[in-house]
Order: sequence, then structure tokens, then C-alpha cells
Amino acid sequence: MASTTSIIQGGFSCGGGSALSSFRARPRRMVVRAEAVNPDIRKDETKVVDSVLVTELSKPLTPYCRCWRSGTFPLCDGSHVKHNKATGDNVGPLLLKK
Ligand code: FES
Repeated sequence: MASTTSIIQGGFSCGGGSALSSFRARPRRMVVRAEAVNPDIRKDETKVVDSVLVTELSKPLTPYCRCWRSGTFPLCDGSHVKHNKATGDNVGPLLLKK
């Protein structure tokens, strides 16, 4: 899974003329780490987009995957249960009702 780490440095200081004019905060350093949420679904595409006409749904209730782990993506195959147990996450499908 791809990830990116950025280090952002910033600072804070107060201008003159107030009671805080001699106060200077120490520069802060924050680490921002971004990770891809899609481990391996349709990685050859720039953006994974699916559209469905609700009137075309064959079942009264159709679950769509939001965890990016389904073997039948974009449909949910229950893989989120294993993912949630392994990671402590709480993702589940989007349910479309006819
Ligand atoms: S398999 Fe991804 S939400 Fe169910």
C-alpha cells in the first residue's frame, strides 16, 4: 500500500504592543502521513468511479463495498468483516434499496 509522509514545520509568534509581545512559541513540527485506502482494486484506472441506476437493481437490497477489500468490487462480498476484525476498523457497505 502506498503511503506518503510529509513533515510540516510552522511557527507562531506574537507582534509587539501587547502583554504577550515577549511571548514566542516554539516552532512546532507535525508529521502528516497519508495512506492509500485502495490496496489493489482496479489500480490501472486513474479514478475508480461506478454509477448505478437504482431502477436497474435486480435485488430489493444491493450492498456496495466501501472498504476496498471486496473480491467482487464494487459489490460487497463480506470482506469488510475480516478487515474490521484485523484492524479494529468499522467499515461496512452502502446499501441501495430498490
Ligand atoms: S466487502 Fe467492502 S464493504 Fe463489504
